[in-house]
Amino acid sequence: MAENAPSKSTPIRRVFSGIQPSGKLTLGNYLGAMRNFVKLQHQAECYFCVVDLHALTVPQDPKELYQNTLDLARLYVAAGIDPNVATIFVQSHNPDHAQMGWLMEVSSYFGEMSRMTQFKDKARKAEVVTTGLFTYPALMAADILLYQATHVPVGEDQKQHLELTRDIAIRLNRRFQEEFFTVPEPYIPPQKAGGRIMSLQDPTSKMSKSASDPNSYILLSDPPDVIRKKIKRAVTDMDREVRYDEKNKPGISNLMVILSLCTGQSLDEIAGKYDGYGQFKKDVAEAVVATLEPIQKRFKELSEPGIIEEILAKGAEKAEAASRPTLKGFMERLGMVPRRTL
Ligand code: TYM
Repeated sequence: MAENAPSKSTPIRRVFSGIQPSGKLTLGNYLGAMRNFVKLQHQAECYFCVVDLHALTVPQDPKELYQNTLDLARLYVAAGIDPNVATIFVQSHNPDHAQMGWLMEVSSYFGEMSRMTQFKDKARKAEVVTTGLFTYPALMAADILLYQATHVPVGEDQKQHLELTRDIAIRLNRRFQEEFFTVPEPYIPPQKAGGRIMSLQDPTSKMSKSASDPNSYILLSDPPDVIRKKIKRAVTDMDREVRYDEKNKPGISNLMVILSLCTGQSLDEIAGKYDGYGQFKKDVAEAVVATLEPIQKRFKELSEPGIIEEILAKGAEKAEAASRPTLKGFMERLGMVPRRTL
């Protein structure tokens, strides 16, 4: 198990996670989720998905969605996911997701879906609220349960969705009177270990790609100078002490977490090292640059046409082969007549 991961009793056998191809991926997405995907690929059978169906829950420009989907797949590889080890695929390339999504909608309740805080947040800010935005967690449950995932590496903000997924799985297992669905464990690092990377401008809220102020987030595509500038401007506090204290020093604590994850130093080591914020911020900036530069370089190399398309074609086949038995078994248990081939 990765050193920063929460300890869980279930052995890690199968891992599923997804990221939306919404263009702007932040350092939060990387440190909270993607970085753990890279670690987990050598410990379990892993499926990493570009969740384009989820992205469609908010309006998308078709050209941008197309590009962002391929780019996110490239980024998975550039970040260190080996397509010969883990399965990388696009959600809509495996039709089982859409079908299972419906079956999850009819297996979940309006009441429990209405309690999802992420829907309430997004609906408040959205220009249009699609029905899919509301049923989004049912599709997420479908993604996970289709692969019988034992663990789901995500950031803190996905916790409630995972709890819903577990509730649905437990309920269906009870109805079928067998352990048909694997009940997935969240694999969420604590805040100190990247589970919740905070905004650089308002360190009491999470770093988010949808924030209006670009200084509040670092994009994985930001060039070194932009990264340096954003970290220099990051909100801190009035004293000069580099010390981990989420409550009273949220800005400094967040930068410490970023530095710790980018360099491998512990928070204690970092705390003892600095006298004031100047050199500290410089070191954070250089550590982020050093982490992202190689990813950006590999990303560019993967832009040659054909490379990612082939990875995704293979990934879709592997994904479908893994999900189909679960979908079939589930439909059988629901009493649906299987299609016979002529
Ligand atoms: P998405 O695309 O919003 O975010 C991708 C991943 O990044 C994590 N994350 C963060 N972690 C730490 N600090 C932050 N500031 C931060 N911001 C984002 C998210 O927690 C997530 O892990 N619903 C999912 C996508 C999804 C999925 C799934 C995930 C669809 N189906 C099945 C797991 C399993 C989402 O919107 O992630």
